[in-house]
Amino acid sequence: MREGKPDPAIAVFLAALFIASAVPLIDGADGEEPVTQLSNGFTATHSADAPGRFEPVLYSHNGVFAFGFLRVGSASLDLAVVHLPSSFPLWRATPARVADWSRPATLSFDSRLVLTVPGVGELWSTLNVVGDTVALLNSSDLVIRLFNRRGTPWRSFENPSDTLVLGQNFTMSSPPLISKNRRFSLRFAKTYMALHMEFYGGRTRPMYWQYTAREAQPENATQPPVYGRLDSRGFFGLYLLGGDQSVDMLAFDTFVRNLTGAFRRMTLDDDGNLRAYYWTEGSKAWTSDYKAINGPCELPTPCGAYGLCVPGGAPKCQCLINSTASIAPPCRAEESTDLCGGGGGQLFDVVRRNRVSLAYKEQLPFETYKTAAECEQSCAASCSCWGAVYNGGSGYCYLIDFPVETVVYEADDRKVGYFKIRKAQQQSAAGRGMSPGVTAAVVVASLVLASLAVAGAYIGWKRWLRQRRAGGVGMEQELTPGHYRDLKSMDSPNNSFKT
Ligand SMILES: *[C@@H]1O[C@H](CO)[C@@H](O)[C@H](O)[C@H]1NC(C)=O
Ligand SMILES: *[C@@H]1O[C@H](CO)[C@@H](O)[C@H](O)[C@H]1NC(C)=O
Ligand SMILES: *[C@@H]1O[C@H](CO)[C@@H](O)[C@H](O)[C@H]1NC(C)=O
Ligand SMILES: *[C@@H]1O[C@H](CO)[C@@H](O)[C@H](O)[C@H]1NC(C)=O
Ligand SMILES: *[C@@H]1O[C@H](CO)[C@@H](O)[C@H](O)[C@H]1NC(C)=O
Repeated sequence: MREGKPDPAIAVFLAALFIASAVPLIDGADGEEPVTQLSNGFTATHSADAPGRFEPVLYSHNGVFAFGFLRVGSASLDLAVVHLPSSFPLWRATPARVADWSRPATLSFDSRLVLTVPGVGELWSTLNVVGDTVALLNSSDLVIRLFNRRGTPWRSFENPSDTLVLGQNFTMSSPPLISKNRRFSLRFAKTYMALHMEFYGGRTRPMYWQYTAREAQPENATQPPVYGRLDSRGFFGLYLLGGDQSVDMLAFDTFVRNLTGAFRRMTLDDDGNLRAYYWTEGSKAWTSDYKAINGPCELPTPCGAYGLCVPGGAPKCQCLINSTASIAPPCRAEESTDLCGGGGGQLFDVVRRNRVSLAYKEQLPFETYKTAAECEQSCAASCSCWGAVYNGGSGYCYLIDFPVETVVYEADDRKVGYFKIRKAQQQSAAGRGMSPGVTAAVVVASLVLASLAVAGAYIGWKRWLRQRRAGGVGMEQELTPGHYRDLKSMDSPNNSFKT
């Protein structure tokens, strides 16, 4: 390093040295080695004053991944498998109840993995699993195994959170991919994959994107279902279950470049888009080479509930309810219950707008009517219906059987919308969710999650490797891309689409 006043790089390096002491080590014949296997009886306690956001307890043999405690946001604690060079959590346990990291949570392995908080109880576990050891494979798959290769009763690859990685099979029977904010999901059906919005705790999940495998035959009852797998050659392959017969592929931008040696992931981001990313040796950030949905206004909720997305060079958000007033989104709180069961008295007001449509109307049920009034009537009569958009040209009436999210502006006076709005006194009953944003800021914030802390753990690993190799990599090369300043964007994720 150059002489002169301290620069952030040095500070990062010093912090990293400090955190490096947190790398779990075991005594081996030729000195200390990072832990690569957990056995029955293992316990580790998260300490509230641990220096980093990520506290690894287990490493993969290739040193690229680690499993451990991850602090999320200002208070919650989770377990995660982290890609160390980028600090990105590829898998998270996401307990139903959130652990508060100021309390001493314990991770233990006693034939199953369990996260416990004293006085609160078990927050998460690998249910009904009996295993002998835990390892983190080179693929990032966290596995519970039986001795003598007698099987793998549990693996993180079969219990994904929001991300799929290379070689991970995603099938119709896999649990869905759920975005971090828990508002969107990716699911497979027999011949297609689809993105859904999740409402009322998952009881209502309208589809907003669907992709059918080209060579799958929906009418063939004996044909096995389709599953998907991310391929290192730069595509998401669709195959028939029980074999590797390919029925389609989603090619990424890098497919034609024959980019080998990149690590890839596919993540359902908090804006509801499904994106593929890759990381190559020496990368400073993940590069996206595929997204399911192209335009910001085509996303399901770019402007939040009752927002109006105006497409164009720079898409803009307005409010559906009051277009004249300069109210910036979020326009309304997210609704978490329907309009049924009010027991007398109208629970809602009505707003009508013309020149509106829905980005995902093709995925919605529709009826055909001669007039907009008839379309409205069919929604007004049903308490599960929150709105309807009518196309005076075709006569199609699309019914919104879930809380109203963002609608899209279309310069066509024949396209009219009818929307119910919960009356003010009713609104306190509704949830107060945040609207998921679509700005790059969100994506960036999630990319840098825990950067600095994990960089420390990664450097710890590298340091160990270097000691073993006796000399080798220079200091500068060890400084991983987790930038110091990135912490700021992590602490105040700006979730809004405005300006
Ligand atoms: C995992 O990676 C390490 C280091 O690259 C290698 O030595 C080891 O053989 C790999 N393990 C497997 C099962 O491929
Ligand atoms: C994914 O499926 C393929 C084909 O059935 C199989 O060969 C492979 O082992 C599976 N991968 C994992 C990680 O289970
Ligand atoms: C239906 O699918 C099975 C399994 O892929 C295949 O063997 C069979 O030929 C298909 N039948 C028709 C009518 O295409
Ligand atoms: C792509 O890379 C592989 C492995 O490096 C090589 O064998 C193959 O010929 C390459 N294909 C093209 C089209 O460049
Ligand atoms: C729209 O905004 C104006 C001015 O802020 C306000 O007077 C009016 O009540 C609003 N209308 C609705 C339906 O919220």
